[in-house]
Amino acid sequence: MPLTVDAVRARFPHRLIQWKHETTSTMDDALLLARQGAPHGTVAGADAQTRGKGRHDRAWHSAPDTGLYLSVVLRLALEPAHLPVVTMALGLAVVEAIAKAAHLRLDLRWPNDVVRDDRKVAGILTQHHGDFTVAGIGINVNQIQFPDVLQPVATSLQLITGREHARESILTALLPAIDDQCDTLTRHGRDVILQRFAQASSYVRGKRVVIEPDGHRGITNGLTPEGFLQLRQDTGATLTILAGGVRPE
Ligand code: BTN
Repeated sequence: MPLTVDAVRARFPHRLIQWKHETTSTMDDALLLARQGAPHGTVAGADAQTRGKGRHDRAWHSAPDTGLYLSVVLRLALEPAHLPVVTMALGLAVVEAIAKAAHLRLDLRWPNDVVRDDRKVAGILTQHHGDFTVAGIGINVNQIQFPDVLQPVATSLQLITGREHARESILTALLPAIDDQCDTLTRHGRDVILQRFAQASSYVRGKRVVIEPDGHRGITNGLTPEGFLQLRQDTGATLTILAGGVRPE
């Protein structure tokens, strides 16, 4: 069933929420809105995407009416060096919103995956454009199956809990959670977000992982003050991971 956007708009009367039945990618829609001057917090969402984008030029599986697909225009007064932490702040917001709306505790996998038992429930794609950021969030809500290639690595709230979840409730919890985490980041700096992330994520310390795409192996050993992941390799050397992702070994 399409998302009942009027119910969400009623909760946030001052926020611009564009919602389409189908789009190519909400990243493109939000970018256009931002270039037209849309304010901080503007949402571009859709019930389906025909060219959903993931990180590293991957596609984001966007089956109609099952997942939550949205991009938010963020106008944050942040130094460029602090921008990578925005993705982590958004991950915290997604975890918080799902805990509130679906009563489910999820894990964070550095830097941008929301997971349950190592399977991905949600992903975040942030694109910085000069004075604004487009933050794309995809949440697997009511999918009961995925394409073969995703089957071993993806899951959804419905698959985890055995029941359907109202996408409206998750979106309604998500928007203020994004506001709160971004507000914390701009007011108090990245340390607070990094501490919260380290507390919320089982991946930040003591996890044996493989780094993608370069294949380095080792045990995670905390975050740097910039938000990069430290990896203690079997040789004893510590490697700072600036980009990419991790998976359990
Ligand atoms: C990732 O984990 O690779 C990031 C996935 C981001 C997917 C979302 S869905 C809404 C928005 N529109 C897109 O095309 N991508 C993001």
